[in-house]
Amino acid sequence: MIIVVFNQKGGVGKSTISTNLAAQSAKLGHKTLLVDLDAQGNSTHYAGFNPNEESLSVADMFKQVVGIFRTAKKPAEFVHPTPFENLYVMPSSPALADVERELESRYKIFKLKDALKELKDEFDHIFIDTPPNFNFYSKAALIAADGFCVPFDCDDFSAQAIDHLLENATELKEDHNPELKLLGIVVNQFNSQAKLPKELIDTLKKKGLPVLESYISATVKVKESHSKRTPVPFYLPKHKVARQIAALFEELDANKL
Ligand SMILES: Nc1ncnc2c1ncn2[C@@H]1O[C@H](COP(=O)(O)OP(=O)(O)OP(=O)(O)O)[C@@H](O)[C@H]1O
Ligand SMILES: [Mg+2]
Repeated sequence: MIIVVFNQKGGVGKSTISTNLAAQSAKLGHKTLLVDLDAQGNSTHYAGFNPNEESLSVADMFKQVVGIFRTAKKPAEFVHPTPFENLYVMPSSPALADVERELESRYKIFKLKDALKELKDEFDHIFIDTPPNFNFYSKAALIAADGFCVPFDCDDFSAQAIDHLLENATELKEDHNPELKLLGIVVNQFNSQAKLPKELIDTLKKKGLPVLESYISATVKVKESHSKRTPVPFYLPKHKVARQIAALFEELDANKL
């Protein structure tokens, strides 16, 4: 199952959710790949991956696609272990930004799908973190995926942006990936004491949007886990937010793609 965590709005929790879901999957013993398509590299960093001079990134894979690298490496050669058992990354690199235009002008949008097809049998689950744009990389991810989920950070601007985001995803689905499933909206940074988050979530539900039941609370422990480069399921396995991440993983897994 290939799941993309997508929202073209910045800072809503894409890297947090994708890395923690991948970590939870790995913790349960599933061989899991986290693909980081954002040049910022937040999920690569959060997953504890330390590149050396030889470690090939997802940007190197794309450079091979457009012939900047005249190599014929297999997708598996761009995958690396993390310090966490069963968790692997296809790491980001700032070079993603350099190669994007070339990929776009040469219609290489299906190349990620081809690469992940080769890896799909090797991994139980693949999660993809995307940049805060509807750009080449997020489109390539949505084309390669079985399903996508949309983090929502309980903010009014984010609520307003969701319709536009879903229109983009629907158009892409119709044109290029009819099997793509919207797995649901992931409520992130939830604060049960405040009125606004509940109101915003109700508005989304009234529109008929599939809001997933497992909310992720706003807590400094999430930020702490970032700075420790240890996803919550490994950093604080007994914390409330670790249980919420586990429940979210179960809910998505129940979709059995
Ligand atoms: N549940 C949470 N509790 C507290 N802080 C959170 C939570 N989720 C995310 N954050 C914080 O919100 C910020 C944005 O999170 P994150 O980087 O995951 O979002 P993003 O959508 O990947 O951002 P970008 O669009 O820049 O890639 C980070 O500072 C992160 O620590
Ligand atoms: Mg991010």
